[in-house]
Amino acid sequence: MSALTAGAPGRTAFDVTALRAEFPILATTSRGKPLVYLDSAATAQKPRVVIDAVGDFYRHDNANIHRGVYQLSERATLAWESARACVATSVGGAVDEVVFVRGTTEAINLVAHSFLRPRLLPGGTVLVTEMEHHANIVPWQLAGAATVAIPVTDTGELDLVAAERMLRDRPVLLAISHISNALGTINPVEELCAMAHAHGVPVLVDGAQAAPHLVIDVAAIGCDFYCFSGHKVFGPTGIGVLWAKREHLDVMPPYQGGGDMIDEVTFAGTTYAAAPRKFEAGTPHIAGAVGLAAALTWLAAQDRVAIQAHEDALRDDATGRLAAIPGLRLVGTAPRKAAVLAFTLDGAHPHDVASLLDGEGVCVRAGHHCTQPLHRRLGLPATVRASFALYNTHDEVAALARALVKVRRLFG
Ligand code: ALA
Repeated sequence: MSALTAGAPGRTAFDVTALRAEFPILATTSRGKPLVYLDSAATAQKPRVVIDAVGDFYRHDNANIHRGVYQLSERATLAWESARACVATSVGGAVDEVVFVRGTTEAINLVAHSFLRPRLLPGGTVLVTEMEHHANIVPWQLAGAATVAIPVTDTGELDLVAAERMLRDRPVLLAISHISNALGTINPVEELCAMAHAHGVPVLVDGAQAAPHLVIDVAAIGCDFYCFSGHKVFGPTGIGVLWAKREHLDVMPPYQGGGDMIDEVTFAGTTYAAAPRKFEAGTPHIAGAVGLAAALTWLAAQDRVAIQAHEDALRDDATGRLAAIPGLRLVGTAPRKAAVLAFTLDGAHPHDVASLLDGEGVCVRAGHHCTQPLHRRLGLPATVRASFALYNTHDEVAALARALVKVRRLFG
């Protein structure tokens, strides 16, 4: 694949070929065909710098953190705390506002337990949206809140008039995705934060899908909590971030008890370390944080404007090619959306479509994408989802379209 074909004439001069060479897995095959990986919304592939950072940590710096007085442990602690500083820089927050967690799901569970539950009175609600991932619904319910949802339009946008009306009912929290994992819709989180704050409602933004695509600035967004997962932003699995305003972290009780989160322990009672450490009980995923920092540093060094243009061009190319396939219906056509395309194919079950695409080396996800309420709203049991990242090419868009035409013939 040449940079020219990858960049498609007249679209962008972004050198995707050079960038792809940094991702070893992209040079492999699947089912005997060149791997066409279109499931980055599920998890992103990793550049060599991330793989090496994790390996190098285990090879040269591995020890437990905050516990040893020996040099190796000091080095591991420095790596962990440097990773925290790197995350803070990357989201525009302060270092002591960054809590390491396992991923977005754990971040939301932490906020549900430590922020929501103590504020919840009988009948208290959390305002979510109809497009939320289950991870931004179930934790609030587990904490005892009723969830009410801002409606989604037929094109997959939020009804902002309804949002404003629903905020007047003073939910305890507004919890919204920055980018929908199922539809790709980019939500107006800045506007929603301003609206919520005007009613005294704090806001959590689920940034799992946004962090790989957008430059995140928590101050500009104006949220109270922002969370994302390492593995979707080209880093390791099992590490993620909760960013929260310091004023919230200070008054939130710990989420889990154990080592490294205490000030003093007696049988009569325990006092806790200051945030963020009071939320990081037990030995954490140290190498994961190192890998995440490598991923964020790598991403920050890329030309984000060119990447944005490249991803937009992939989205438009894929939208055009797929819309031209008879019987294919695109689901989610918001004007502001990331390169995530959900669709159905007449007469074919989405799982069958995904299996047949797999036979062509094309990896996509099929199902409800952990968004059952959204699929219920859209009257669909499932969709096929192709999700693109900065390393995808226009040749891969063409490969997807070709494979779908083949699948279409089987069901036609
Ligand atoms: N939340 C991930 C997805 O949308 C797993 O596929």
